[in-house]
Amino acid sequence: MALTSNTQKIDEVRNQAAHLNSQARSADQLMQDITLLLNREMLKYNWVGFYMLEPGADPPALVLGHYQGAMTPHTRISLNQGICGAAASSGKTVVVDDVKADRRYLACSLETKSEIVVPIFVRGQVAGELDIDSHFAAAFGEEDRQLVEYCAELVGKRLENK
Ligand code: SME
Repeated sequence: MALTSNTQKIDEVRNQAAHLNSQARSADQLMQDITLLLNREMLKYNWVGFYMLEPGADPPALVLGHYQGAMTPHTRISLNQGICGAAASSGKTVVVDDVKADRRYLACSLETKSEIVVPIFVRGQVAGELDIDSHFAAAFGEEDRQLVEYCAELVGKRLENK
């Protein structure tokens, strides 16, 4: 069997995400399907989960939604905490190649070495984020970033049409 390159794999998973979006009956189902897809197909994506901004919470807080991987102690994160808070408050994707070297990092598992957090926008406002941890250092390159941003966009569009 020929080895699949990372680019081919990412293309394939992107197409599968588009297919899941066309089949999902709700944004909630799509979020669950995306966690399952990314965790199953992308071998370095060892923890995949959504954090969503709690409606009406003051101060604002991110609340854990669907996820795949080990249980995390961080089920509720303030916007001034962690890589998750940094991505939600800046509205920018955050990629951390070495979590030990990032003082913002909130540890979820001792095995985690790198992390990507991508905000989800609904009508131009951050509504939540897609967070992925890897047991491998610098697991998230440019193509990974594009794949995760694509998945986050699918969810944002679904939430807009709710
Ligand atoms: N590492 C995150 C916390 C969430 S866990 O990774 C699931 C952070 O620093 O915000």
